[in-house]
Amino acid sequence: MSTVVALREPHGETRAALTPDAARTIARLGHRVVVQTGIGAHAGHPDDEYTDAGAEVLEGAPLAEALRVADLLAHVTPLPAERISVLRPGALTLGLAGVDDGDRRAALAAAGVVPLAFEQLPRTSRAQTMDVLSSQALAAGYRAVLEAAIRLPRFFPLAMTAAGTVPPAKVVVLGVGVAGLQAIATARRLGATVAANDIRPDSAEEVRSVGATFIDAGVGSAEAAGGYARSLAATAAEAQQQAIAPHIADADVLITTAAVPGRPAPRLVSAAMVRAMRAGSVAVDLAASTGGNIEGTVPGAEVRVPSARGGGEVTIVGLANAAGDLPTDASRLYATNVTHVVELLTVTGPDGAQLVLDESDDILTGLRVAGAGS
Ligand code: NAI
Repeated sequence: MSTVVALREPHGETRAALTPDAARTIARLGHRVVVQTGIGAHAGHPDDEYTDAGAEVLEGAPLAEALRVADLLAHVTPLPAERISVLRPGALTLGLAGVDDGDRRAALAAAGVVPLAFEQLPRTSRAQTMDVLSSQALAAGYRAVLEAAIRLPRFFPLAMTAAGTVPPAKVVVLGVGVAGLQAIATARRLGATVAANDIRPDSAEEVRSVGATFIDAGVGSAEAAGGYARSLAATAAEAQQQAIAPHIADADVLITTAAVPGRPAPRLVSAAMVRAMRAGSVAVDLAASTGGNIEGTVPGAEVRVPSARGGGEVTIVGLANAAGDLPTDASRLYATNVTHVVELLTVTGPDGAQLVLDESDDILTGLRVAGAGS
């Protein structure tokens, strides 16, 4: 039997790495499951739901002892050094590892733990059930549209009433990965008309398949390995800006989700393009915490800039942790992703269930952070 532990997340993070359902599944695989008191408080799961699911809910010295013998520590946000140092050498960690941070990488290496970083999960069909980048992006894309809708002084849907006709809101989405597609689908469900742009060749068809118009910037193929985008050359970026500018000026809502893995977010929207929007328009930047797609974005804050068309301001919302604003369902999906990795790691033999990192499995070797651990 291996011990799987999850703690309350630090720094105000609302999501939980294990839900009661996930704890039940992992316990049924034959593992001991330990969670910290209050782990599910924000996600709507009191301690007794975890106990009923077969987990031990601990605090204080018994929790410290469980951590000392843990075989796997599941987490959502990157682990602080003081959580890494209490683990035994060879213990696995599984979560968003944030190993671009040199200090954290050093702390993981010093403790001799084996970090499994969700950021490194191969984007293959077999790995889809473990893909937290997708599951959390789905929540973020949905949330971004609601943040815009609630601030917009207009309806999203067309309304034909005795008091007159209200035209549908116009929404522009830039970056059509998982979050962008979900943003389009959510805006469409609310009745808006949507136009979208991305630089990957497959994106035009994906955009049309969810009922939006594709804005063709004519920049050709900008796809790198693994289906991700690569950075655009300066001339192509300029062509893209020219193609999207009139759509943004005409939009009520702008949602940006563009990202290039391992790089700061591409700057797609200048301050002048924001000022060209009508007063009352809302821009939501989902890339805020990696530098922002929109000039003037502040992560975790709302900024108002005067519209050059007069009459008021345009609001820029810098969403820093949009999935964390939906802790119940974001945790449900995240914890299910965790459970699928634990299933993949589980080997059942005469001594019961053990967590084993099979070096021949491309998902597990992909997750494992090179150069850390034993
Ligand atoms: P992401 O979060 O890395 O980026 C979001 C979007 O921004 C991407 O569509 C990207 O092409 C776009 N982008 C980057 N630079 C841009 C620019 N300058 N202008 C406009 N758009 C720009 O993307 P995500 O959501 O992780 O998806 C990346 C790719 O991986 C997609 O092709 C997606 O379909 C694929 N994918 C595959 C999965 C699987 O097979 N298991 C699972 C999830 C995604």
